Amino acid sequence: MMSEIPYEKVGDVESVKGEYHKSQRFYRCLLFIISLATLLLTLLFFQTLLVPMVTSSPDKPQHMPVRETCTDPCRIVLVESIPEGLEFNSSAVHPSIYQTWLNLISETRSSLDIASFYWTLTNKDTQTHEPTADQGERILKELTQLSGKVSVRIAVNTPKETKPQDNIEILKNAGADVRTVNMRELTSGVLHTKFWVVDKKHIYIGSANMDWRSLTQVKELGAVVYDCSCLATDLGKIFETYWYLGQSGQEIPSPWPSEFSTVYNKDTPMELALNGTDSRVYLSSSPPSFCAEGRTSDLQSILSVIRDAHKFVYIAVMNYLPTMEFSYPKRYWAEIDSELRRVAYEQRVHVRLLISCWSATSPTMFPFLKSLAALQDSKAKLDVQVKIFTVPATPHQKEIPYARVNHNKYMVTDKVAYIGTSNWSGDYFVNTAGSALVVNQTSADSSAPIVQKQLQAVFERDWDSPYSTQLNHNTNHMDMC
Ligand SMILES: *[C@@H]1O[C@H](CO)[C@@H](O)[C@H](O)[C@H]1NC(C)=O
Ligand SMILES: *[C@@H]1O[C@H](CO)[C@@H](O)[C@H](O)[C@H]1NC(C)=O
Ligand SMILES: *[C@@H]1O[C@H](CO)[C@@H](O)[C@H](O)[C@H]1NC(C)=O
Ligand SMILES: *[C@@H]1O[C@H](CO)[C@@H](O)[C@H](O)[C@H]1NC(C)=O
Repeated sequence: MMSEIPYEKVGDVESVKGEYHKSQRFYRCLLFIISLATLLLTLLFFQTLLVPMVTSSPDKPQHMPVRETCTDPCRIVLVESIPEGLEFNSSAVHPSIYQTWLNLISETRSSLDIASFYWTLTNKDTQTHEPTADQGERILKELTQLSGKVSVRIAVNTPKETKPQDNIEILKNAGADVRTVNMRELTSGVLHTKFWVVDKKHIYIGSANMDWRSLTQVKELGAVVYDCSCLATDLGKIFETYWYLGQSGQEIPSPWPSEFSTVYNKDTPMELALNGTDSRVYLSSSPPSFCAEGRTSDLQSILSVIRDAHKFVYIAVMNYLPTMEFSYPKRYWAEIDSELRRVAYEQRVHVRLLISCWSATSPTMFPFLKSLAALQDSKAKLDVQVKIFTVPATPHQKEIPYARVNHNKYMVTDKVAYIGTSNWSGDYFVNTAGSALVVNQTSADSSAPIVQKQLQAVFERDWDSPYSTQLNHNTNHMDMC
């Protein structure tokens, strides 16, 4: 039996070959050698051929990011623009977006990436010589100076020919790198995102456009996270999608190359400390075609935050419509609307919507909002309330076009803070580019610094303010806007 041949014989084989070449033993030996050689060759084959084939199989791209522990000392600060003349009797006060942008510009050492919808930081567009445009003008001046010193990249929605482009020209001439993203051609939407990534270390995200009015005449809300390269790296990947699509003639890749992928999403958020409080954080993006592998779409993040609420869902957005606002023929789109009705009914969650109105508000919004507000019935244990927030204007302020409105876009539940850049109607989740920061501090103890608590206080400040009016079935919106 081959297995009986003592192992040492193998080394001896050459020396015994001549003596026993006619014996059976020789053939047994030969058989053994052949078997052994075959075994060795097979092993060799596996090692040199199959193993590399497995590791480089297309299912496991070599650049697939891995989850890393984030030890950055991240700090999150809510920031706001409160329009001139608006006053709240409340302790919920946050740094201004203007001051925050100035800080970020002065902090920049090597790079500043800005995703933007349009640029009107000077008030040339209105010809009103408005003194409150000074903050926007200062920001443009600082950005212009910075563009000569460090890498400044700007991704902007391809402007309509009629729109002023002098801000962008000034920045380009100063050395900024600008790419226009032709969303109309790519998705028939717009690039509506507004965020900054500084030195791949600090981020700003929020509702404010690169518009002087967003600093002094329009109510805005955003968040800035300092010293947080983990989060900045992930937001940087969303910026890179715009930067990539800003090359001329570019099409939306499907799938996106793996360097755009993320491992941080609603199911596996990034775990980090924000102001020392354990938090689970991720960034969502829209439209879905811009989401590389692993990225949660904006709509899915909104739905999951609503679904996860136990006590309340407070929503503050400029526009709320269960329709595709800008599509013809008309299309009904009730993904968010149904989810709100469902949690109000099934989970007895208190739902409050604080919506804005101004002269340009679509009248279609009101019957749909009234229909939501009709779900108010204490006997049926349904609590859905809608209020309309109006920013008052003096006769002089009324002359400023596209101003005096509450433009913020956020949601706060008993568990999570969601800070976004999109209006809430179908278009913004189907073909318009936007993004959001989702912060979950469910497990934190109540005395810890929690951004969800701060955002709740902002919502309650606005909801209880004299600028908000309850909407019910007989409200005439013409009296409000
Ligand atoms: C502000 O609020 C406090 C407490 O709610 C109240 O006592 C005070 O009268 C208010 N002041 C104004 C100017 O409304
Ligand atoms: C928030 O985190 C908790 C775990 O800490 C998780 O159970 C919950 O689903 C998360 N909520 C959302 C909306 O992601
Ligand atoms: C949100 O909707 C309003 C009304 O349709 C529109 O004017 C505005 O551009 C949209 N959002 C912005 C600028 O953030
Ligand atoms: C985090 O710390 C900063 C000061 O460094 C403070 O302004 C901010 O409000 C804190 N954030 C929270 C959520 O407490």
